[in-house]
Amino acid sequence: MLSYQHSYHAGCLADVHKHAILSVLLTALIQKDRPLSYVETHAGRGLYDLESSESHKTGEAQHGIKAIQQAGLFQETHPYMKTLLKIHNRYGKTIYGGSPAIARAILRPQDDLYLMELHPQEIKYLHRNFRDKNIHIHFRDGYEGVLAISPPKAKRGLILIDPSYEVKTEYQDCVDFIQKIHQKWPQAVIALWYPMLPSQYYDEMMKALNNLPFETVDHRSFQYAEARKDKGLFGTGMYIINPPWGVAADLDEIDSLLKEFISTQT
Ligand SMILES: C[S@@+](CC[C@H](N)C(=O)[O-])C[C@H]1O[C@@H](n2cnc3c(N)ncnc32)[C@H](O)[C@@H]1O
Repeated sequence: MLSYQHSYHAGCLADVHKHAILSVLLTALIQKDRPLSYVETHAGRGLYDLESSESHKTGEAQHGIKAIQQAGLFQETHPYMKTLLKIHNRYGKTIYGGSPAIARAILRPQDDLYLMELHPQEIKYLHRNFRDKNIHIHFRDGYEGVLAISPPKAKRGLILIDPSYEVKTEYQDCVDFIQKIHQKWPQAVIALWYPMLPSQYYDEMMKALNNLPFETVDHRSFQYAEARKDKGLFGTGMYIINPPWGVAADLDEIDSLLKEFISTQT
């Protein structure tokens, strides 16, 4: 059932889009001293070696983060680049940080991280990679687990929802989960990542979310290939509920940098 393994895809263009946005959101949230909660429904293992056989097999990082860094697309002072540098310095130059590592690199000792993961192999790596006192790792279904711990002690915070969308029903599961979690923890920033695939199930998910009465939403999508039935992923999106104040300009910058990058690749 759980066949998806992020080690084949770490550092791909979709990861760059998701992680650049995540870095901006978390950097905005730490501008206030009060403690934060960072919560993930689908954590993965947190650290990925871009020189592994899995990474070389797909070559996705080669066309993703490696090409982007080679092009010097983001300034060194950009929150995403600063975070990747911290991760390189701690683990080595070939290591790419998944979302838990990005969150840990940005957050502070007073903040708590709650990470859910259901794959028996990925959870072993996650435990091995993250042993800090303020990191709480749960081997359970991410939707059930996050609902159970919410709202956490520190009510300022962000929930990242990053499923593998292995089954079609997952698009509706995300909508159901968002409705429930927003009721339990209304002040949370919710960031939902989704893939743009030829099946276009994400379209239905967006329509359902747009019909819900959230006060503030910021929706970012990044199309990096032509949408073709015979091909797979052609883009990626992030739907953000309750975005932190003042992030729109930084998110606009990510949009335009990634567009610029794609225009140089074709
Ligand atoms: C796209 S990956 C996560 C990548 C990670 N968020 C990152 O950006 O570095 C999705 C992960 O969700 C895990 N997973 C799948 N179904 C799950 C569920 N119901 N609850 C928790 N984790 C699940 C998979 O094993 C996989 O590791």
